Amino acid sequence: MTNTRDQDRVLIFDTTLRDGEQSPGATMTHDEKLEIAEMLDDMGVDIIEAGFPIASEGDFEAVRDIARQSKTSVICGLARANFKDIDRAWEAVQHAARPRIHTFIGTSPLHREITKLTQDEMVERIEATVTHARNLCDNVQWSPMDATRTEHDYLCRVVEIAIKCGATTINIPDTVGYTAPRESADLIAMLLDRVPGADEVVFATHCHNDLGMATANALAAVEAGARQIECTINGLGERAGNTALEEVVMALKVRNDIMPFATGIDTTRIMGISRKVAAVSGFAVQYNKAIVGKNAFAHESGIHQDGVLKNAETFEIMRPEDIGLTATNLVMGKHSGRAALRAKLKELGFDLGDNQLNDVFVRFKALADRKKEIYDDDLIALMRDSSADE
Ligand code: KIV
Ligand code: ZN
Repeated sequence: MTNTRDQDRVLIFDTTLRDGEQSPGATMTHDEKLEIAEMLDDMGVDIIEAGFPIASEGDFEAVRDIARQSKTSVICGLARANFKDIDRAWEAVQHAARPRIHTFIGTSPLHREITKLTQDEMVERIEATVTHARNLCDNVQWSPMDATRTEHDYLCRVVEIAIKCGATTINIPDTVGYTAPRESADLIAMLLDRVPGADEVVFATHCHNDLGMATANALAAVEAGARQIECTINGLGERAGNTALEEVVMALKVRNDIMPFATGIDTTRIMGISRKVAAVSGFAVQYNKAIVGKNAFAHESGIHQDGVLKNAETFEIMRPEDIGLTATNLVMGKHSGRAALRAKLKELGFDLGDNQLNDVFVRFKALADRKKEIYDDDLIALMRDSSADE
């Protein structure tokens, strides 16, 4: 695999179908997974982590069928650090035009205690499993789970051995969402500086959102040299979720002036896939969620509505069309002003003169005081009442 570390391209690795599906209650059917994988492929996701083939027959079949239907994206299957998992992952992903095996082991003291492996025994296990995976597939990703709580010297040692045994991507997971942005950057910089062979592989960042810092941590890692971001649609994932794809992609697009990195994502497909994932996972998107929330492009206050109508850039840093929405949503309510009411009524087919608008505006305000949200039908009824009075 080519080393993209010195280039300005950041690979997007989507794990909605693996880490996202691990979210309690987010189980998706086989057909739903295939549909989402196709949408991810079409939107330009570089790598799709399609599942954990050893986990169940259903997971295996989903990964295999996603691999078979794949077009451009690399299709990746997850495996623990044992031959059985790795063989099963390969059995599923080998059908892809571009397959990848992703194998991992928990390297922090807490995880070493659970696996009852000494540091040396774990190194031997990594050596054997990464070599085995590489003998099957020339695209191998390796992850030291809980990397952000692993001793730095030991982390350098295990990353070095994984690279020596043929890993082509080294993923650095913040498994429990514990790290902070500066620390996330320092960790990647430290590994790139200290590990022999680090410049031959792609470093990835995989953040969880337990402290609400997943997006900031991922971007900080990129600034320090990581060139693959692992993320999910709507930030779906265990506990507080993973880094949200739409957030990192739009942050890199909107703030390209200070983060000059490109992704291959067609951002106009973001809204469509966000809605699809919300529908099939049953996890509704919170109203004020960055980028894809119902209110992300909605304005109710009079000042904001007036500003946006005159020049959208006054209160919008991205265009709704950039993420696949057709237009800014002017939410009509008690904070709305005359300009927004005029624009909204025009949209509904009523082009009012100043006097008529003044009259309707008074009625509209009275209604808005009684009713939380004013729908298009309410406005149409208001217009009917007003013409009946004339
Ligand atoms: O969060 C994590 O550590 C993971 C690994 C399996 C990469 O999801
Ligand atoms: Zn994870």
